[in-house]
Amino acid sequence: MNELEQRIHNEIAEKGGIPFSRFMELALYEPGLGYYEKQREVGQRGDFFTSVSVGSVFGELLAFQFAEWLAELEGPVELVEAGAHDGRLANDILEAFRDRRPEIYERITFVLLEPSRVRQGWQNEMLASHAGKIQWTTEMPPAIHGVFFCNELLDAFPAQKLEWDSKTKDWFECGVGESGGQFEWCRMDAVKDSWNVGGELPDGTGMVHVPTLAPFWNEVCGSLRKGRAVAIDYFLEEEEFFAPPRPHGTLRAYHGHHQTDDLLANVGEQDLTASVNLAELGFAAKAAGVHERVVSTQAQWLVRIFEQTLKNPDCFPEWTPERTRQFQTLVHPEHLGRAFKVLENWRG
Ligand SMILES: C[S@@+](CC[C@H](N)C(=O)[O-])C[C@H]1O[C@@H](n2cnc3c(N)ncnc32)[C@H](O)[C@@H]1O
Repeated sequence: MNELEQRIHNEIAEKGGIPFSRFMELALYEPGLGYYEKQREVGQRGDFFTSVSVGSVFGELLAFQFAEWLAELEGPVELVEAGAHDGRLANDILEAFRDRRPEIYERITFVLLEPSRVRQGWQNEMLASHAGKIQWTTEMPPAIHGVFFCNELLDAFPAQKLEWDSKTKDWFECGVGESGGQFEWCRMDAVKDSWNVGGELPDGTGMVHVPTLAPFWNEVCGSLRKGRAVAIDYFLEEEEFFAPPRPHGTLRAYHGHHQTDDLLANVGEQDLTASVNLAELGFAAKAAGVHERVVSTQAQWLVRIFEQTLKNPDCFPEWTPERTRQFQTLVHPEHLGRAFKVLENWRG
């Protein structure tokens, strides 16, 4: 048993079972031990790919689009990234600004919203050549005049796993207990005042709820004074969560590029993720007075930016065969083009 498993076992022994969301929090974020606390490769040699690991073209395209938006704002502007991991995307964006948009590079402060000291250290190293431009914060900046963005952050928030009981017509929360030194599922309390969508669902249908999701997006949109908030992630519309019915909802694990349903295995060594409910973010944005919203697939969004780069070739690096290959991976429906969607909210 590794140290992280031992800690989780101790907490289960003390409490007699913990909600899955707590298990996920410990497995991913326990300081010094969790999956995201260890420096690991994202990409070919890691457990999963992200658009960032495909190559620099993703950051270059984002930089192009962000520069267009930032150019509409006067004075000093901020670019705020949450979930920057090792800072690679931030670096790709800053390099593109420095090379192609020096007037924007001059005016920006790049703010990294990062609660983990370990990850702040990696980002500091990666972004050393932009040192004067970077600030770290562990709390949402109170006022953003510029662009907030995150790539594959929201799907990594700890999620409650709920299961439908067709006899009692209730959702109950799934917890984690143990037997003979092994983690196992246990049943926790029924979830009161929950969604009344369950009436016609098969017994045992799973669902995911992320308690921190709406408050987080509400805070992002609330902080936006003038500018845009952009999230790129595995988004689903509400009805897609139940079609098809899945025992674990949309929760899944990634280990060595294999997707698995064994959420309790390889603790601290596998990624845990759940698709994100767009409707919840819509309500959160509306509550913050940010009504406009656009959702595109990653392919649609990036192709639009690509078309703009052709009209402004001086503001974008040359489309070499390598950049073109990376772009195809980002927009191809069987690769990353359809699985990821882009949400944009804006004010002003
Ligand atoms: C799937 S990784 C994505 C990394 C990177 N954005 C990319 O696209 O390659 C998710 C990252 O979000 C971080 N994260 C999770 N919750 C966070 C939070 N509340 N604030 C900031 N970062 C967080 C994780 O530690 C992890 O580094």
